[in-house]
Amino acid sequence: AIESVSALEIVDCRLDPTLRVTVRTAGGACGTADVPCGRSTGSHEAVERRDGDDRFHGRGVEGAVETVETEIDPALAGLDVTDQRAVDRALDELDGTNDRSRLGGNTTTGVSLATAVAAADAVGLPLYRYLGRADVGSLPVPLFDVIEGGELAESGLAFQEHQLIPVGADSISEVVRMCAETYSVLGDLLEERYDARSRNVGVEGGYTPPITDPRDAFDLALAAAEEAGYGGSFALGIDAAASHFYDPESGTYAVLEEPFDRGELLEFYADLEDAYPLVSIEDPLEENDLEGTAELTRSLEAQIVGDDLFVTDPDRLRDGIERGAGDALLLKVNQVGTLTEALEAADLARRNGYDLQVSERSGQTPDTWLAELAVGLSATQIKTGVTRGERTEQYNRLLEIERALGDGAALADPPWE
Ligand code: PGA
Ligand code: ZN
Repeated sequence: AIESVSALEIVDCRLDPTLRVTVRTAGGACGTADVPCGRSTGSHEAVERRDGDDRFHGRGVEGAVETVETEIDPALAGLDVTDQRAVDRALDELDGTNDRSRLGGNTTTGVSLATAVAAADAVGLPLYRYLGRADVGSLPVPLFDVIEGGELAESGLAFQEHQLIPVGADSISEVVRMCAETYSVLGDLLEERYDARSRNVGVEGGYTPPITDPRDAFDLALAAAEEAGYGGSFALGIDAAASHFYDPESGTYAVLEEPFDRGELLEFYADLEDAYPLVSIEDPLEENDLEGTAELTRSLEAQIVGDDLFVTDPDRLRDGIERGAGDALLLKVNQVGTLTEALEAADLARRNGYDLQVSERSGQTPDTWLAELAVGLSATQIKTGVTRGERTEQYNRLLEIERALGDGAALADPPWE
């Protein structure tokens, strides 16, 4: 049974305050989880709780720490730590809002995840095994965000992520090597073509060259793969994060010099798919355009991933499924605020033939519950940046899990395989 829930104000990779929550049981089990934080957020996400005072420009989480220790701790005391649903239901009732604005989505996310980590400890299993039970066996294919733009970098590119996606590989160790070798060649190419400053990285550890056309990013990434000896072994993906270059007043999208209307943007995606091995497009249109997203899902081969579109919310996903919008779910636990709801969204996605991509946030810590969750859910895909410790630790954890699974480990089959 849960004995105590405590929290500490720590800082994430942006030196932004966040929560580290610890759950202890009467039997001596213990679990800790750090809470991630987005910047390029969807408007329908669970609301974060921040202090709004003079510390950290208002971004402190001392209020959330106090809430954990004075309100949540007594409410959860005595509950079975392995009954995740009961814990999350208690959080839900205590919060009493539709958007988690009273306790804070960051607060509930931390408590919910720390509960699962403590439960895994209580039953003596690694988290991926506790979450996945007997089904564990496949490892997610990573999408490497090698060139950044949008809200997460000052490159000049409108699309937020330009991803290299390994195809036909057999193991995590192989894809990590493929990415590492290609990434370093890409750095050299950028330095030759532009200047050494292009090697500076954005929030997810991808490069930030002074380019404005996504086709240049694709050409450079593919050239680097070729030169590294991996021609044909990588496909391409983007996270357009289109809400962030959409102007609601004119209804246009600022991708290139001349703004696109919706039809022109849809055509642009079709042209990109014709010209490049583009297999994945996340948030191609602004977050409320389910119709346009459905049109694109029908007309393109590439998978269409919903991030800001669905915000890991079973209700929004259900809506999207009914209208045929997208065919993959981006899963971010803190968008919805509890593990139970995130698992519900994953389940709903799977039952309706949607692929599953477990995702980092731009603000996070080296806590590897993310890699564990991706394996535990048998997600076919994981998105966790490229360099910087809080990203590479996820790859390192996947390498450990791959070794632990031994012969039982296989790389999953996303739709492009
Ligand atoms: P975020 O960005 O964590 O800032 O929301 C990542 C993404 O859009 O996928
Ligand atoms: Zn996104």
